[in-house]
Amino acid sequence: MSHPKKPETTHNIHPLILERWSARSFSQKPISAETMEALFEAASWSASSMNEQPWEYLFAEKGSSAFEQMIDCLMDGNQPWAKNGSHMLISLAKRKFNDKDRDNRHHMHDVGAANSALLMQAAHIDIYGHMMGGFHMDKALSAFGIDSEKFEIACFIVLGHLDVPEKLDEPFHKRELQPRTRKPVSEFTKKLD
Ligand SMILES: Cc1cc2nc3c(=O)[nH]c(=O)nc-3n(C[C@H](O)[C@H](O)[C@H](O)COP(=O)(O)O)c2cc1C
Repeated sequence: MSHPKKPETTHNIHPLILERWSARSFSQKPISAETMEALFEAASWSASSMNEQPWEYLFAEKGSSAFEQMIDCLMDGNQPWAKNGSHMLISLAKRKFNDKDRDNRHHMHDVGAANSALLMQAAHIDIYGHMMGGFHMDKALSAFGIDSEKFEIACFIVLGHLDVPEKLDEPFHKRELQPRTRKPVSEFTKKLD
């Protein structure tokens, strides 16, 4: 099922960029292990500073206790819809370079790029995801034994196949139907002479 959230654009933008959007209504259809691996492989083809690839993912399938624990780490505004997803992911960014005891100041940048590739690959096969910064940091670090000196949690991500917006309670139903908007390009770009 594709969704009418594909926006109108001024220019001819690649469909894959436009098809990704942050869904909240997920069906019961599962995502196979092979598909999950394909999504992670897509993430791995992102560029990263010195090809460090500072991304790591913890992930859990619906029905597992880890999935429930991940849902439990989310803030109240995310739990009611994220629990219907097929998989939950925790996106981690390694703080230091592997072979040097030196901070990698690009770690979050590169992990963001990897998450973007993962979600575009997902949209390509009609799987939608929603990144979430609304989670309890201390709870997540301790529930999954994450060493915060080594890793920063970039975000949680829920993945699933789309279901109808009507399945959601308010205010999520309304949000699911809202058109996606963006600032005009002129607002965030500046040509220098
Ligand atoms: C790092 C990050 C954290 C986010 N956290 C949340 C969140 O906690 N809850 C939520 O509903 N949406 C969250 N979002 C989704 C954004 O609200 C969404 O990407 C934005 O409104 C643009 O919509 P679109 O992704 O459909 O284009 C987050 C997105 C990112 C990238």
